[in-house]
Amino acid sequence: MPFLSRLFIRTALGYLVFGFTFGALMLTNKGVPIHPLLWRLLPLHIEFLFVGWTVQFVFGVAFWILPRFNTSRGNESVVWLSYALLNAGVLVAGLGAALALGNGLVLAGRLAELGAVVAFAINAWPRIKPFRDVVIPK
Ligand code: HEM
Repeated sequence: MPFLSRLFIRTALGYLVFGFTFGALMLTNKGVPIHPLLWRLLPLHIEFLFVGWTVQFVFGVAFWILPRFNTSRGNESVVWLSYALLNAGVLVAGLGAALALGNGLVLAGRLAELGAVVAFAINAWPRIKPFRDVVIPK
C-alpha cells in the first residue's frame, strides 16, 4: 500500500476514534446530563465522521486500488493537495461551527473540502479505465 494511502487511512481512523467518542459523549449526556456545552460537539461529530472518516477512508483505498499506468499512480501532487485541503476543511468547518466562529469560516471549510474532492478527481479520473487498457505481461 502506498504511503499516501496509509496516511489517508490512518488519519481517517483518528477521526473515527474522535467522532465516535464525541457521539458517545453526547449520547451519555442525553441519558445522564453532564454539561449542556457537550452539544457543541455535534458539528464536530458530523464533520469528523462524514468527511474526516468516511470520505478520507474512501480516498485512501481508491488511491491505492484504482488501475495504475504500469507502476505509476499518476500525478501525486494533486493527491497531496487533496489530503491537505480535506483535513484543513474538516477542522475549519468543524471547529468554526462548534465554537460558533461564524458562517464564513464554515463556508471556507466546506469550500476546502470541495477543493479536496476536485483535486482527488483529477488524479482518479484517468485511472478509471476499462480492463483492455491494462497491459498484461505475457
Ligand atoms: C459513521 C458513523 C456516524 C455518522 C456518519 C453520524 C452522523 C450523525 C449525524 C449526521 C447526526 C445529526 C443528526 C441530526 O441532527 O438529525 C448525528 C447525531 C448524533 N450522533 Fe452520530 N453518527 C455516527 C455515529 C455515531 C455513534 C457511534 C454515536 C454514539 C456512540 C453517535 C451519537 C450521536 C448522537 C448522540 C447524536 C445527537 C442525536 C440528537 O440530536 O439527539 N453517532 N450523528
